[in-house]
Amino acid sequence: MLEKFARYPLTFGPTYIEKLERLSRHLGGKVEIYAKREDCNSGLAFGGNKLRKLEYIIPDAIASNADTLVSIGGVQSNHTRMVAAVAAKLGMKCRLVQEAWVPHEDAVYDRVGNILLSRIMGADTRLVDDGFDIGIRRSWEEAIEDVKAKGGKPYAIPAGASVHKFGGLGYVGFAEEVRAQEKQLGFAFDYIVVCTVTGSTHAGMVVGFAKDGRQRRVIGIDASFTPQQTKAQVLDIARNTARLVELGREIEDDDVVLIEDYAYPAYGIPSEATKEAIRLSARLEGMITDPVYEGKSMQGMIDLVQKGYFPSGSKVLYAHLGGAPAINGYGYTFRNG
Ligand SMILES: Cc1ncc(COP(=O)(O)O)c(C=O)c1O
Repeated sequence: MLEKFARYPLTFGPTYIEKLERLSRHLGGKVEIYAKREDCNSGLAFGGNKLRKLEYIIPDAIASNADTLVSIGGVQSNHTRMVAAVAAKLGMKCRLVQEAWVPHEDAVYDRVGNILLSRIMGADTRLVDDGFDIGIRRSWEEAIEDVKAKGGKPYAIPAGASVHKFGGLGYVGFAEEVRAQEKQLGFAFDYIVVCTVTGSTHAGMVVGFAKDGRQRRVIGIDASFTPQQTKAQVLDIARNTARLVELGREIEDDDVVLIEDYAYPAYGIPSEATKEAIRLSARLEGMITDPVYEGKSMQGMIDLVQKGYFPSGSKVLYAHLGGAPAINGYGYTFRNG
């Protein structure tokens, strides 16, 4: 589906699919849980889902002769860390707007984890007081203008690399990769669980899996706590991406399955159940998930298995999208493990 698009390789290749034996057994053994390890996809600054998206965006940035990548996220944004890494790898400058998306107070929140890594990689990180919003932001537009005013040539990458004309392509590729891996494994997955916030990961999967009619088996777990805006953004990106790859069919509203029950109490703030899910997957599988994103999708998947949402015998693929560096901002939360 992606042959006609330029791709700049930033990842190692197909990501590993691992069976989560002990977690599956702990949850009753009726559902087999696997993880696709997007969190281990690259040597670039701990990797993660944004690299698949950036692989299809970077050729456009290079063609534009830009010298500075400009992007935006929260203080502990994984996405901005990935943009900083890609800029370093390409020899470009990087300007990052880090908004106050998370009402979380920790003495070192803006000094550790993702933002620390971005600073080490040479990005110009600017803290801004505005709160959470996945839309196009004034602070980001101002940063783009500021780079221009100082004689630079910016290339603008929106939050999560989502609302970009090529933002959905990377996760179309994910679906194609899963199909190829299923041939080797000798079975197909019944469900794919994905954490959804800015939307292009989920949207790309919807388009990619629509090719074999599985788009409604992509179960998005909202972590934004603004699910209406997130769902609308997923639909928008999916529709644009479907046109771009010439899918040959319309994406319908019901093709986007987004479960809203696990994002509470706020974006970036883990509930007790999220913290328990983080501990459980860490203690049973040695697999680290974070309080902002994957901890919430892990909590959602565990709860759905326990509620019998997935019929007995289902094979569920948990897309582990990365995000572990942010856990450093939650040292106090996990001070007792
Ligand atoms: C670790 C992690 N998981 C999940 C997501 C959600 O992906 P998306 O923003 O494409 O919905 C993000 C980024 O926002 C992320 O960094």
